Amino acid sequence: MTDRSVPVPAPAAPGPAPLLSLRGVHQVFPGARGDVPAVAGVDLEIRPGRALCLVGESGCGKTTTARMAAGLADPTAGSVRFRGRDITAMDKRERSAFRRSVQYIHQDPYASLNPVRTVYSTVSAGLRRHRMVADHKAARRVTAELLERVDLTPAADFIDKYPHQMSGGQRQRVAIARALAMDPEVIIADESTSMLDVSIRVSLLNTLGRLRDDLGVGFLFITHDLAVAKYFAWDGEIAVMYLGKVVEHGPTPRVVNDPRHPYTRALISAVCEPDPDLARTRERVRLRSADIPDLTALPPGCDFHPRCPLYTPGACDTRRPPLVRGHDRLLACHVVGQG
Ligand SMILES: Nc1ncnc2c1ncn2[C@@H]1O[C@H](COP(=O)(O)OP(=O)(O)OP(=O)(O)O)[C@@H](O)[C@H]1O
Ligand code: SF4
Ligand SMILES: [Mg+2]
Repeated sequence: MTDRSVPVPAPAAPGPAPLLSLRGVHQVFPGARGDVPAVAGVDLEIRPGRALCLVGESGCGKTTTARMAAGLADPTAGSVRFRGRDITAMDKRERSAFRRSVQYIHQDPYASLNPVRTVYSTVSAGLRRHRMVADHKAARRVTAELLERVDLTPAADFIDKYPHQMSGGQRQRVAIARALAMDPEVIIADESTSMLDVSIRVSLLNTLGRLRDDLGVGFLFITHDLAVAKYFAWDGEIAVMYLGKVVEHGPTPRVVNDPRHPYTRALISAVCEPDPDLARTRERVRLRSADIPDLTALPPGCDFHPRCPLYTPGACDTRRPPLVRGHDRLLACHVVGQG
């Protein structure tokens, strides 16, 4: 049996109904050496005013998951639902509303803006395309308001600039203003702060946090950095991905202060930034191997078993651990999963 058939309950998150739900999504890419199961049965929910952080090493499937959540790629199996409606069943009008409501902010502020467009042209393009403003004067006014909201103040200093006249942090704020122009209910931020200096990163995280708290925007926040996840989603949830699957998913304080899955413990042990919470839960985790298995030749049983310090022969190398509730979260582990 593959985990494609395992129904996985999302963690109980009290509060508003989910805006965006991923149900058992898979993404298989054709590769020269065989199929690449980049995402293999992921269930996630994004709620208004809440942040869900997706963390994990490079290549674990974060961007592929995010692209499916944003409707930029169709899942090979499973479904993406927006307000309960399968996005593949939407008609043109519904799809257009979905595309406006769910905005994707890319990692690279240098590449995501058109170099020959001014800030005004970039931010107002969607406003004008969707006829959300009556005329040029209204488009300038709304653009200026959006720039102020993302702390590009005074707006008059930025509105007629080109990308090359701004810093990386300022460019990323323009990308956020462009997303906000669509009045989104969900923002999918894919490593949106990882290319920025630490002080600029913190300032941008604070700006995004205000959008979440003041405007009730739901966030799927992707990062390989647990310290950033902790900072942005302390009141939210963290889902830890390994080789295309979620291995631990729960409230951020539980996952950070009391990590249970051996892979989460290994991730925290690798955090090098000084952080009191992470330092407290940090232990020296000795992996059995540093090598990450190839997605085209996954080991039998648990994907993590060739590296796992808690590897138990007979169980870990024969059966894939399902993601089940234990220790106030969801865990995929034969050894630490119950509780
Ligand atoms: N279009 C594609 N064709 C083939 N394989 C792909 C494609 N896109 C992604 N992959 C593979 O799928 C896996 C997951 O990639 P993905 O970009 O989702 O990882 P990620 O977690 O976002 O990594 P990073 O932290 O480096 O951004 C990787 O092995 C990647 O090589
Ligand atoms: S199932 Fe076994 S190999 Fe996998 S994480 Fe748990 S202890 Fe480690
Ligand atoms: Mg990525």
